[in-house]
Amino acid sequence: MFNKKSAGNESRDVIKVVIVDDIPDTRENIKKLLAFEEQEFRVVGTAGTGTEAVRIVQETQPDVVIMDINMPDMDGIQATSQISKVVPTAAVIIMSVQQDSDYFRKAMLAGARNYLIKPVDPDELYGTIRAVYKQHEIIRRQQAAMQGAPGDLRASTIAPETEAYALRAGHIIVVYSPQGGVGCTTIATNIATGLMKKGIRVLLVDANLQFGDVGVFLKLQSQSNLYDLVDKIDDLDIEFFDSVVSSHESGLKVLLGPPRLELALEVEQVPNAVGRILEKVAQNYDFVVVDTSSHLNESQLALFDMATKVVLVSTPTLASIKNTRFVLDLFDKLNYTAVKTTFVLNRVEDERQRGARVTIPTETIEKHLKRPVDAQIPADDRTVLSAVNKGVPVISYQRDRTRSPIKELVELADSLFAQLAGDEDFAEDDTESDKNKAKKPLLRLGR
Ligand SMILES: Nc1ncnc2c1ncn2[C@@H]1O[C@H](COP(=O)(O)OP(=O)(O)OP(=O)(O)O)[C@@H](O)[C@H]1O
Ligand SMILES: [Mg+2]
Repeated sequence: MFNKKSAGNESRDVIKVVIVDDIPDTRENIKKLLAFEEQEFRVVGTAGTGTEAVRIVQETQPDVVIMDINMPDMDGIQATSQISKVVPTAAVIIMSVQQDSDYFRKAMLAGARNYLIKPVDPDELYGTIRAVYKQHEIIRRQQAAMQGAPGDLRASTIAPETEAYALRAGHIIVVYSPQGGVGCTTIATNIATGLMKKGIRVLLVDANLQFGDVGVFLKLQSQSNLYDLVDKIDDLDIEFFDSVVSSHESGLKVLLGPPRLELALEVEQVPNAVGRILEKVAQNYDFVVVDTSSHLNESQLALFDMATKVVLVSTPTLASIKNTRFVLDLFDKLNYTAVKTTFVLNRVEDERQRGARVTIPTETIEKHLKRPVDAQIPADDRTVLSAVNKGVPVISYQRDRTRSPIKELVELADSLFAQLAGDEDFAEDDTESDKNKAKKPLLRLGR
């Protein structure tokens, strides 16, 4: 999938590998390929079924598992799911003939770190193992810290609050509102910043192609942006992707949108451009936060479909709530479970501000929509606008985390992190919704 020919020997570690495939010849061939680079890779075990794989991985504690999908008894996706629970330090790379994006999605939800299509080019295999091993470092450090490892590992750069979690990579959080101007960009930039403070890898994507504001909100200007990726979508190289992504001073990685309207229109001609890019790169980050426009089209629906979470933003006004109702109805038809959506009410006014009753009380909204509001962000024009004018996220601009709306924005990021980081129930829920979706082909989205 990724063409990482010149990854080089950045690390001197020998990477321990387990190979899982039901065909003995395939296991042998992969073993031979890795033997060419014996300084770097050591095969510590092989298995021919999913059940055997789980046992061998527990016994040998490898760094990387190369996993086939179709196997007798337990398949590779189930085995991956079990391995990521019992040996979270083992990073799984699926290697399969299955090209269907449903397999890809299920593999990623099960905890796989990457997905290669057979037959695999040796350089691609070596590069992927190296990349996955490097990406998984944070998990190895977390586990070592939790098991009372030596001091140098304890003194890692991981924020303390991440230690209780085993992270699964590639969560996509899509921030959306059917109404423009309600605060999507404000919320997306602050969620991304809040997640980043956990010491994990976060990518913020501006998918509001025509009128995206992420660059303005974060005071980022770059020659490189999403437009540069569209003609390389089918053959996207992670190193090229990295060269297009901008870095905010906070360390947050940002994929900016097209800088001009005519370029945005060109990107829009490419079906599901952002979704297809994310399919290739999301697993290189722990979380990808996507800011979107209010326009609903096939590409936007495909993004919802890929998302682990859709953060649905509304304001307490009649028009916004009416449009939110439409979107929630659509999500029902798509069989999205309640946990797939986080409903955020932005610009909420307190009783005093609401004296003139121009906004609707939260309880009335919950009753009307028949669902709870998951987060309420108070209105504070001065703080929010001052942060935008300075080009920093609100939660970085105002450091007092007890003050509104900083407190609520931080809580929102914390809550998303807690729900998604290593939450197996969530993944199962999503799989369930997949099954239901299959029963309703009318609204099933083509990918
Ligand atoms: N909680 C809040 N309190 C006060 N002002 C806010 C709040 N949230 C957002 N704003 C302001 O509302 C305006 C619109 O916010 P933002 O750009 O985040 O919305 P959007 O949904 O992304 O808009 P667009 O549809 O243009 O992309 C901005 O000026 C922002 O400063
Ligand atoms: Mg916006």
